[in-house]
Amino acid sequence: MSTAWKSRYALRTKDLKSSTIRELLKITQKPEIISFAGGLPAPDVFPLDRFQEACRRVLELNGHQALQYGATEGYEPLREMIARHIARYGIKAKADNVLITCGSQQALDLIGKLFINAGDRVLVEAPTYLGALQAFDVYGAEYVSVHTDHDGLRTDLLEERLRSGPKFMYVLPNFQNPGGTTLSEGRRHQLVLLADKYGIPIIEDDPYGQLRYEGEHLPPLVVIDRENLRRDEGYSIGNVIYLSTFSKTLAPGLRLGWIVAPPDVIAKLVQLKQGADLHTSTFTQVVAYEVAKDNFLDEHVKLIRKVYRERRDVMLESLKKYFPPEVTWTHPQGGLFLWVTLPEGMDCNKLFQTALNENVAFVPGDCFYARNGFDNEGCRHMRLNFSYGQPEQIREGIRRLSVAIKMQLRSPHVNH
Ligand SMILES: Cc1ncc(COP(=O)(O)O)c(C=O)c1O
Repeated sequence: MSTAWKSRYALRTKDLKSSTIRELLKITQKPEIISFAGGLPAPDVFPLDRFQEACRRVLELNGHQALQYGATEGYEPLREMIARHIARYGIKAKADNVLITCGSQQALDLIGKLFINAGDRVLVEAPTYLGALQAFDVYGAEYVSVHTDHDGLRTDLLEERLRSGPKFMYVLPNFQNPGGTTLSEGRRHQLVLLADKYGIPIIEDDPYGQLRYEGEHLPPLVVIDRENLRRDEGYSIGNVIYLSTFSKTLAPGLRLGWIVAPPDVIAKLVQLKQGADLHTSTFTQVVAYEVAKDNFLDEHVKLIRKVYRERRDVMLESLKKYFPPEVTWTHPQGGLFLWVTLPEGMDCNKLFQTALNENVAFVPGDCFYARNGFDNEGCRHMRLNFSYGQPEQIREGIRRLSVAIKMQLRSPHVNH
């Protein structure tokens, strides 16, 4: 008799859904479809030669260490490099404050594991990163959602929500996924002050911070917290845990991210990571270090910024040229995405089918809202990625999408 696996699944798996984006990506991989759905970096900017050379050097000079088990905290030279790298953004961390993870996605999972008891509330932006919701859902998180606008999280709405006692806030200050919006400097200060006033810590997720195409760099929340509230107390305390990744600056296939946190939090996360995977791949870490060193990463990021800025501009121009005037969109200063708002009454999930018939795809907005977090609002939105396609594909894809939108607008089922 075969085992009834289903009846043995743990309770925490009861409400799990597979990611809409992953399902969509399967459909949109047909070659005739122009897809704005994935969050993929452009493969043409992966520094293949540098990786090839780094792999050769690592195996020749450091092969025995690179192929061996390693410390759970991560490869020491890489942790030190990250600490030096982020110091330029004012984040004065030591290697001891850095834990290397298998992408930022693992960081989110470990944070969920460390902090969330079933039923705990997590304060999130509406909309927010779908992968964070997936990571936190497993631990039984409930959500308190706060609206965003063109300047990011609406801090004017925050105080009331903080009174409901969330365990922590999960915030994306730079070129948010999915909104493409950036939290203004004034709001950053307000957010940090309110977090301190109510004693609610912040998880600052910053995969895109280096990919700025216009405007001034804004201070990370972790820096504002430290400089304004924790003078002279070093990095042993602080109200903000900071996450970032090499996925958007080197290559997502590396699966390398990192957490910056006070040492006692790092020690706890290390215990949890040991149970998860012992450590992140030593080989990958040593290769990433070889690739990134001697300022290569900085030079490479300049190239990425140039390529993505052009693609963003092509998408913005094409939207202006083809989309009907009732449709609006965000103007991201960096990152990979922009966020489109359709007229009231339009449903992105219906539009998705029409768009597929026109051989173009996007992600319907509703999957970026937490349960009980303005569920129906998402239906009027879609997320478009501009980093992956070549400029010509972006132009043609937006033209096709405009055809689908105009058809939908003419449909008698749309009431507006
Ligand atoms: C906001 C945000 N956080 C985390 C991640 C996970 O990144 P990775 O696991 O590739 O480092 C992503 C990926 O797109 C993201 O957009």
